Amino acid sequence: MKRIGVLTSGGDAPGMNAAVRAVVRTAVYHDMSVIGFKRGYNGPLMQNRNHTDDFEILTERNVSGVIHRGGTFLMTARCLDFHKQEVQEKAIKNMRALGLEGLVVIGGDGTFRGAHALNNLGFPTVGIPGTIDNDLAYTDFTLGFDTAVNTAIDSVNRIRETSESHERASLITVMGRNCGDLAVHTALACGAEYALVPEKEWYVEDIADKLKWGVLTGKRSNIIIFAEGAFNSLKSNMHELCHKYEALKGIENDQMTSSKLAHVLEVLSGHEVRATVLGYIQRGGSPSGSDRILGSRLGAHAVELLLNNKGGRAVGIRENKIIDVPFEEITGVIRPLNNELVDLINVLSHNTE
Ligand code: F6P
Repeated sequence: MKRIGVLTSGGDAPGMNAAVRAVVRTAVYHDMSVIGFKRGYNGPLMQNRNHTDDFEILTERNVSGVIHRGGTFLMTARCLDFHKQEVQEKAIKNMRALGLEGLVVIGGDGTFRGAHALNNLGFPTVGIPGTIDNDLAYTDFTLGFDTAVNTAIDSVNRIRETSESHERASLITVMGRNCGDLAVHTALACGAEYALVPEKEWYVEDIADKLKWGVLTGKRSNIIIFAEGAFNSLKSNMHELCHKYEALKGIENDQMTSSKLAHVLEVLSGHEVRATVLGYIQRGGSPSGSDRILGSRLGAHAVELLLNNKGGRAVGIRENKIIDVPFEEITGVIRPLNNELVDLINVLSHNTE
């Protein structure tokens, strides 16, 4: 193999640049050249608005000074058309015309589905898990997760200071799609009282009771870390609660937002609750040391797989060992909730007084 491509796709994640750098430098070390495609799968499809900006040749020098930068310098996009076979074939045709013999893609579940399809169509493709969600079950960690947890921790620390000063409770919403890992890790690291996640059913009444009891027994810090996907696991019947509490009128299960939830908790507990949605702040920032190291290790391993004609696989990390797994074993496998960490949050926030 003499020339390979690399692209980043889906939501950006800190550490993607470190992975691209490792792909380029490992390839160059093995006498290969690398083309970096811009804006995810739009690059090989040559469908960026400015056609001179679909790709660039990446040398060791092009990837200098990127290891510490968040985001992705190759830019990213979600290419919704890429599930169509004719679109995948067009990408392969374009890549072959550029002399490419393999591709490394960095992204999440959707990105891997595209990579799997390319490989099945005969174009050797390897995936690197890059997403702050940590929702790919085959790897202990995805690239960007550690940084996002640390960013969330920093934000929660700040919110805690103001909420303690005002003796309020704080409902802090974190990202993660349908995976509660970001919420659980943040909650445990921040000493939060609760982590509400999509994988586990929950009732507003229970949270309000625990909050009320905490306040009664002199608890000054009441932090609820809420995973954005956890609206789907809310089991309380808001319709019934609305009948009971005039102040909740009009609040429906399927139209819940973080600020509405804070209001519900406030009404049920009688204690002031403020909502903060951390949003995109969690995706930005310089990657942590762990993510830089992980990106470097995964990037290097991805290139080695291509060199050994082992396309069709995703790289990952298990028990601090770099692994690779066929795409077939990955897609649709949902990471189970880490119940050990959830139980620990409950034990450490238990209030007996
Ligand atoms: O998958 C990463 C992620 O940040 C999720 O946590 C979040 O739900 C989603 O992307 C947001 O996507 P977008 O950037 O398209 O708004």
